[in-house]
Amino acid sequence: MNPKNPKLKYKKIWQFPQETHDFIKPMIKGRSLHVCCGNSLLCDIRVDIEEQEIQKSKPGFILGDMFDLNKVLNKHGIQKQSFDFVLCDPVWNLGYHVRHLLIYQLRDQIKPGGTLVFNCLWFPKIKTMKLEDMYVGLNNMAWRNVSLIGIYKKVQSQFNFNDSQD
Ligand SMILES: C[S@@+](CC[C@H](N)C(=O)[O-])C[C@H]1O[C@@H](n2cnc3c(N)ncnc32)[C@H](O)[C@@H]1O
Repeated sequence: MNPKNPKLKYKKIWQFPQETHDFIKPMIKGRSLHVCCGNSLLCDIRVDIEEQEIQKSKPGFILGDMFDLNKVLNKHGIQKQSFDFVLCDPVWNLGYHVRHLLIYQLRDQIKPGGTLVFNCLWFPKIKTMKLEDMYVGLNNMAWRNVSLIGIYKKVQSQFNFNDSQD
């Protein structure tokens, strides 16, 4: 027995703190998609590479890889640009070289005029999407990474981006 008695408390990691859940929930409007949903039941369609038990309690979970998001959704009859709201809470330490592979597919799924909420410790820059707001999840743990919640509005469809530049 360790005499230090550190009073460890184990809780699930990789799960939204309740405050993050409560902060994001009111932003969800219209048809919604959550990529890397983990244990969260937020949104109509939820995608993750692992199915957590809780996902069985609500329809809309799709097992799939975020890097194949367009293909995964298409297999379920979901066309690109069909969501008003997309939420993504990815693994935070994604390599630089793969970040765009996720970001462009999130963009593809959002309707023009729709919203992306992206929760990570880095934030994307996307040509057809305007960064409207950025929030930082302040916490009181020393030296910890913080969560940046970026809120983007899709201002233009990526599919006719070149046409409309003329
Ligand atoms: C930060 S956690 C998300 C936690 C979630 N927001 C919640 O409240 O439970 C990241 C999630 O990404 C998922 N994930 C990791 N790699 C993935 C991939 N290639 N495709 C889809 N999901 C992936 C993990 O299974 C994990 O559930």
